[in-house]
Amino acid sequence: MTARTFTYEPKLVDKIVVRDFAFEFPGDLDPVWRPDNPVVTHLFNGLSLVKPYLEPYLAKSTQAAIPYIDVPELVQDMHAFSAQESRHFECHRRLNEILKSNGYPELAGVEEKMARSFARLRKRSLRTQLAYNAGFECMTNGFTNWMINKRTTLFAGGSPHVVSFFLMHAVEETEHKTVAYDLYMAYSGKYWPRAFGVLHGTFHVLGYSLLGMFTALKKDRQLGKPRGIFSVAREVGSMVYNVAPYLLRALLPWHNPRRDQDPQWMKDWIRGYARLPKGAMLPLVDTSDPTMPVPFADTTDDRQGVRSVGERRRGERRHRMVSDVASVLGFPDRRVGDRRSAQQLASA
Ligand SMILES: [Fe+2]
Ligand SMILES: [Fe+2]
Repeated sequence: MTARTFTYEPKLVDKIVVRDFAFEFPGDLDPVWRPDNPVVTHLFNGLSLVKPYLEPYLAKSTQAAIPYIDVPELVQDMHAFSAQESRHFECHRRLNEILKSNGYPELAGVEEKMARSFARLRKRSLRTQLAYNAGFECMTNGFTNWMINKRTTLFAGGSPHVVSFFLMHAVEETEHKTVAYDLYMAYSGKYWPRAFGVLHGTFHVLGYSLLGMFTALKKDRQLGKPRGIFSVAREVGSMVYNVAPYLLRALLPWHNPRRDQDPQWMKDWIRGYARLPKGAMLPLVDTSDPTMPVPFADTTDDRQGVRSVGERRRGERRHRMVSDVASVLGFPDRRVGDRRSAQQLASA
């Protein structure tokens, strides 16, 4: 039975869309897919390694809670959440198999540890599992904002396949960021288990991700070199700096992921994807572009499109009139640039 204190609030997105990950990784993919920064590469590979263990667990525990929830909108979100997470881990598994067969078979040892750990987690109470899920997903919002907003720093020159996949995953994580939180609040709503879940989910996943990263860096003999150690400190420090504020906010008793605004790039991506013809392959992000725009041809905001017909003309007329009046009064004409010297301007 849903907790009496729970009231469903609208999400920041209209709908959680279940999409195909319609692209294939090249079979000869270099596991160091950002060759100029092996530490960032192995950090994200480490995160990828956890997903085929974490995400099936998230989907199964969410499905197990459906009989306890009698809010139709939330149940619909839970189905979409589980379907998205299932597609994520299938794609991560494909990537991870390539990473192992193209140079890092040692990662299989980390996978065995994770398989045991997530099997133990599945035996915990449903409340503990849902608190873990809510905590982890709230912290993940920090990760997705970091990945999307700092994409040019993190992924410049990287494999377009891997980068497009990580960014699409980040978009969908942002899209469904309210579901695990809502589910916990509807199932229990108690503060302390949720606060513990934030730490439990965060450190459990990050711990295994870093174990994967260090396993690969050890194989690359990067850990014995001052340059390698400095690079690890810099990249992991950057991750903590960008994600920690979200983790700390998630610990507040009044936290709600709806308070975190979604990045504009994510909104543009969703709008661009919606216009993609059915069955079309996903276009890849251009990692050589200095701004790494969304990989869709036309992502102009619809509202701007409507405005451009009438409002934009009126706005331009207003702007011309103001500029004419300003130039008559002796102010610089900004339309053509001000060609007066600094001395002339000072005496104007
Ligand atoms: Fe996911
Ligand atoms: Fe998620």
